[in-house]
Amino acid sequence: MSFEELKTAYTAAGQSQVFTFYDSLDESAQKSLLSQLGSIDPARVSRIAATVLSTSPEDSSKSTEIAPLPETSTASTLTASKGELKVWEENGMALIAENTVAVVLLAGGQGTRLGSSDPKGCFDIGLPSHKSLFQLQAERIISLQNLVEKVTGKLEIVIPWYIMTSGPTRGPTEAFFKKNDYFGLAIENIKFFEQGVLPCIDNSGKILLEQKDKVAVAPDGNGGIYRALVQEGVLKDMEERGIKHVHAYCVDNCLVRIADPVFLGFATSRDSLVATKSVPKRSPTESVGLIVSKGGHPAVIEYSEISPEMAHQTLDSGELAFRTANIVNHYYSVEYLRTIPTWTDNYLPYHVARKKIPCVDLSSGAPISPTKPNGIKLEQFIFDCFPQMELTQFSNIEVLREDEFSPLKNKVGTVGEDDADTSRADLLKQGKRWVEAAGAIVDEILLGVEVPPIVSYVRRRGTRVCKW
Ligand code: UTP
Repeated sequence: MSFEELKTAYTAAGQSQVFTFYDSLDESAQKSLLSQLGSIDPARVSRIAATVLSTSPEDSSKSTEIAPLPETSTASTLTASKGELKVWEENGMALIAENTVAVVLLAGGQGTRLGSSDPKGCFDIGLPSHKSLFQLQAERIISLQNLVEKVTGKLEIVIPWYIMTSGPTRGPTEAFFKKNDYFGLAIENIKFFEQGVLPCIDNSGKILLEQKDKVAVAPDGNGGIYRALVQEGVLKDMEERGIKHVHAYCVDNCLVRIADPVFLGFATSRDSLVATKSVPKRSPTESVGLIVSKGGHPAVIEYSEISPEMAHQTLDSGELAFRTANIVNHYYSVEYLRTIPTWTDNYLPYHVARKKIPCVDLSSGAPISPTKPNGIKLEQFIFDCFPQMELTQFSNIEVLREDEFSPLKNKVGTVGEDDADTSRADLLKQGKRWVEAAGAIVDEILLGVEVPPIVSYVRRRGTRVCKW
């Protein structure tokens, strides 16, 4: 698009401030600004801004009945019978053996709270081996492929790994994999793809300039996965490979059980389009998102959307009625992912994340490094598509937190939880439980044992966990 065309489009959308410094730029800076402006649809940004700025956070929750998911949509590995677990696991392994299962890693976040300059997946949580989160996950994939080959007798089993990055994380992520020889995985079975970005806006919806010749942009949230799966050709690649089932998970969970056969077997036994894993809430007041039924549809809500009475409500079993803490660990049928183009643009809402966004003062041209939030990043959330489903198309399985969830969010010494120290401790404690269950005697002074994932994809045998 020419300068005139862009100027007209941005002016019509009320965003002509992006040209404030245009005349003072040299030719190459003008070119680079125009090229970036050409990749943005200013009318769409203004439309999204107008919507988010006119919606109060309460709007979405008001007068909609919230209830725990019905029993018909749920199960728990903590209470399931040995027989059920066995059937789910065997069925899940059969799906993997048919090469119909893929995994999608959400690794586009900027990890602001962790404060590392590298992508989170490169982070060393301080294990004796100093393996990165990416390496732990790669080893689990190799290990599961080997296990399924061994159990089913099928050969050449492949679980393709699709890694969603973003503008800031793509380059360093790919370089890290290359430097580490893709951790032993075949390069043709790893596909990096990139989620979209959206301009950052000020509190009145105007696009912010990061520099005189550059618009401030940020990844469009983990809900950007849907648009990216289609636009980046991931769904097409899955279809070409005959993939029918997808496990998606977050990069920062060191305990993540990738492509868990039990989860796959459970979700498919319910004919679910989408399924989630949850862990029991630690306490009634823990501030975690909850997977519930809202207005008769599956949904994830903020902990603050239920009253204190509801938060404390218990079942006959003594368990909390609302205990399904969301850990962003999802099953998708490819059948469901095929429908993305029909809803990703007009159904998924954008959310406001108020952040400190470095930008340029439009009147003086001076750089601003804000000390408090001065603008808005626009984000979609991965779970916002759930409510368009019927409860019968969705299911949730509860799993043991200490075996499956320990997220790396914060820098050590800041919040005191969900940091490298807790991640490492949880992984090592799990290793200790495993080797003890396998008959080893571990010295009491040892707080944990590192069991390499490459030799230890965990299996469930009834309520007992064992390794191969
Ligand atoms: P978080 O919401 O915890 O964000 O991401 P983050 O980037 O890791 O950390 P903060 O909030 O900046 O401190 C949960 C998961 O969603 C992914 C992250 O990579 C992580 O796996 N994510 C988040 C994306 O893939 N894209 C995004 O735009 C945001």
